[in-house]
Amino acid sequence: MATCSAPGKVFLFGEHAVVFGKPGIAMGIKPRVFVTVRRGKNPPRVNSPYIENCFEQTGVNGSAYIHSQLPSSSGLGSSAAVTVATLSAINEEYNLGMDRSHIASTAFKIEKKVQRGRASPTDTFVSTYGGLVLVKDNKRRILPPENLSLVIGNTMVSHKTAELVGMVGEFRRSNPHVVDPILDAIEAVTIRSLHNFHNQKTLGRYMDVNHALLEALGVGHPMLTRLVTAARTSGAYGAKMTGAGGGGCMIALCPKRSKSRIAKAIEAAEGRAIITSIDTDGVRTE
Ligand code: PMV
Repeated sequence: MATCSAPGKVFLFGEHAVVFGKPGIAMGIKPRVFVTVRRGKNPPRVNSPYIENCFEQTGVNGSAYIHSQLPSSSGLGSSAAVTVATLSAINEEYNLGMDRSHIASTAFKIEKKVQRGRASPTDTFVSTYGGLVLVKDNKRRILPPENLSLVIGNTMVSHKTAELVGMVGEFRRSNPHVVDPILDAIEAVTIRSLHNFHNQKTLGRYMDVNHALLEALGVGHPMLTRLVTAARTSGAYGAKMTGAGGGGCMIALCPKRSKSRIAKAIEAAEGRAIITSIDTDGVRTE
């Protein structure tokens, strides 16, 4: 028997723009998914296409049990964390000798298959390595970690990433002169934020700007506006939606002492709050 766990992720800057080759910054977050794998010939399995595909890809027989601290379908990368943790537990239990890069690439292959082509390699990369990750020119690179206090607000409104990405693509095709400057502005904010991780007030301001630009792309939602406003008015340095938008989650960058006040304000606005910070471990054996 082997148990491994893998972290979730948030986009700090640049979501949607990354689809058009712009830079983005993602981060591993503390809530994790734990997966226990047991050997066996025809064991009962959790009913998950991700788990099925992990066994299929590695060619071994076994069962898997999931315990998740991450809400699913909310843009926090829970399916990537399930896939990465399962592959890693299979790797441990059957001594397959896969290294992290092999786990990340196999997990992406599985996500792509299950999600019919529209999976984000950033989710599986961040869940495997953890830390702060720069996405640039379609490649991912780990940056030095930053100690950011975040509160996540889950709108509990489910969204479909593929639909939202398709919508932005269509908007851009029909209105390139309107949409391209928005994508350029998101790029500028992402690049400036890289130089301002030490200055959380400025970073928060950039989050506010990134949120407005995502709204301009048409991926906002009234519940996101509500939670972002609640976080800002209760003392956050800044707040924005994270991931595909249209529901899902927002993040607030907070002064350390105000985390619980901001979490309470998000809950009072009917969101589910998670107080969190960076995860630098990535996938690990428990
Ligand atoms: O799956 P989510 O909600 O974390 O959003 C993915 C982020 C996008 O930039 C919209 C898509 C992508 O593949 O990067």
